[in-house]
Amino acid sequence: MKAVVLVGGQGTRLRPITYDIPKALVPLRNRPFMGYMLDFLRGGGVDGAVLSLGYLPDPIQEYLAGWRGFSVDYAVEEHALGTAGGVKNAEEYLDGDPFVVVNGDVLTGMDLAEAIRIHKESDALATITLTSVEDPTAYGLVEVDHEMVVRRFIEKPAADEVTTNLVNAGVYVIDPEVLGMIPAGQEVSIEREIFPELQARGRLRAHVSSSYWRDIGTPRSYLAASHDVLSGAVGTNRGTFEYMDVAENARCGKNVKLLPPLSVAGGCEISDLATIGGRSSLGRNCRVGRGAVVEGSIMLDGAQVEAGAVVRGSIIGRNARVGRGAIVRGLSVLGAGCVVGESNVLDQGIRVNPGVVLPPRSLRF
Ligand code: GDD
Ligand code: MG
Repeated sequence: MKAVVLVGGQGTRLRPITYDIPKALVPLRNRPFMGYMLDFLRGGGVDGAVLSLGYLPDPIQEYLAGWRGFSVDYAVEEHALGTAGGVKNAEEYLDGDPFVVVNGDVLTGMDLAEAIRIHKESDALATITLTSVEDPTAYGLVEVDHEMVVRRFIEKPAADEVTTNLVNAGVYVIDPEVLGMIPAGQEVSIEREIFPELQARGRLRAHVSSSYWRDIGTPRSYLAASHDVLSGAVGTNRGTFEYMDVAENARCGKNVKLLPPLSVAGGCEISDLATIGGRSSLGRNCRVGRGAVVEGSIMLDGAQVEAGAVVRGSIIGRNARVGRGAIVRGLSVLGAGCVVGESNVLDQGIRVNPGVVLPPRSLRF
C-alpha cells in the first residue's frame, strides 16, 4: 500500500520558523518531523510514499534522499493545488489500489493498519480517522451516525456550529475511484469539496482513534509536540527511550544544570552555571552563556543565548541570538538570524521576523 503525504502548504501559522524551514522538517528532539511521519507510515504497513510538495520542496527531498527500504516519489506543484489537488497531482505514482493520504503535519501514534483494515471491510470510498479535541474550530468537524457513516463534515466550524468534539485527524484511506472526482491542475480542497460530496453519496466513513494525536502547525502545538516527544509520550521507542539525549561532543562548563528530559545536539557549548531545564531541545552548535537559563524551549541550529539571559517556553530560530540579560518567554518565536539586544523582555506570543535586530532595552512587557 502507498501513501500520499501532503506537505505542500506554506506553514503560515508557524511563521517565522517556516520562512526557512518547511513545516515537514521542523525538528522534534533534534529529528526532522518527516522522520516520525515515515516511521508512522511504515509501522502501519505502508511500503512507499508519494510526497506532494509545493512550498520549499528542495530541503524535504534532500532529507529523504538517504531513506532506504521505502520507496519515495515526489510530485511537485508549480502553484498550490490544495489538499485534493495535491493528491490528484500524485496520481501517476499510485498503482490503482486503495491508498493512504496523510496531512504532513500530524504527529500520531494511531493504529494505521487498523484504519486500513476497517476501510477494506466497508463499502466506503473514503475512510477518515477522527480524534477528539477540546476546541474543534481549528479543524474539520465530523458528525457520524451510530454506524460511523459521516453525516456532516464542516471545515473550520464557527463556534456555534460545534456539535461534537470529534475532528478530522488528517489520516485517510481512499479508493482510487475518488481520483476521478478531482479535476486535474486546479486548486481543490479535499475537506471543503470532496468529503462533502462523498458524504452526500453516503460513501464517507469514519474511524475514531484514541491514540496520541497532535497537529504541529502552530507555535503552541509545535512546542507541545516537542515536549511530548522529549517526555516519551508519543508512543515510539518506549523500550530504549533516553530522557537525557546529549551528544558526546556537546561541551558543558562547570556547575551546569541539565534537567531531563532534554536533547542537546552535537557542537553545543553550555557555559558555567547555565541551566538547561526540562523539555528543552538544543539543535547543533547552539551556545548558552554563563548563568543563562533555557527551559521548555526549542533552540534551532546555531542559536545563541548570552550570559544571564532567560528563555522559557519559546522557540529560537536558526542562528538567532538572545542578548545578555534578555528575557524571552510566553511562546515567543524568533526567526532565523534575528538579534534580541541586551535586557529586552519578549512575551505573549510575540513573533520576530528573520534578521530583525532589536536594539538593547527597546521592548518590555
Ligand atoms: N501539496 C499540497 N498542496 N499540500 C498542501 C496544500 C497544497 O496546496 N495546502 C496544504 N497542504 C498540506 C500542508 O502542508 C499540511 O501538511 C496539510 O496539507 C494540511 O494543511 P494545513 O494547512 O495544516 O491544514 P489544517 O491543519 O488547517 O487543517 C487540516 O488538518 C486538520 C488536522 O490536522 C484539515 O484537514 C482539517 O480538516 C483537519 O482537522
Ligand atoms: Mg495542519
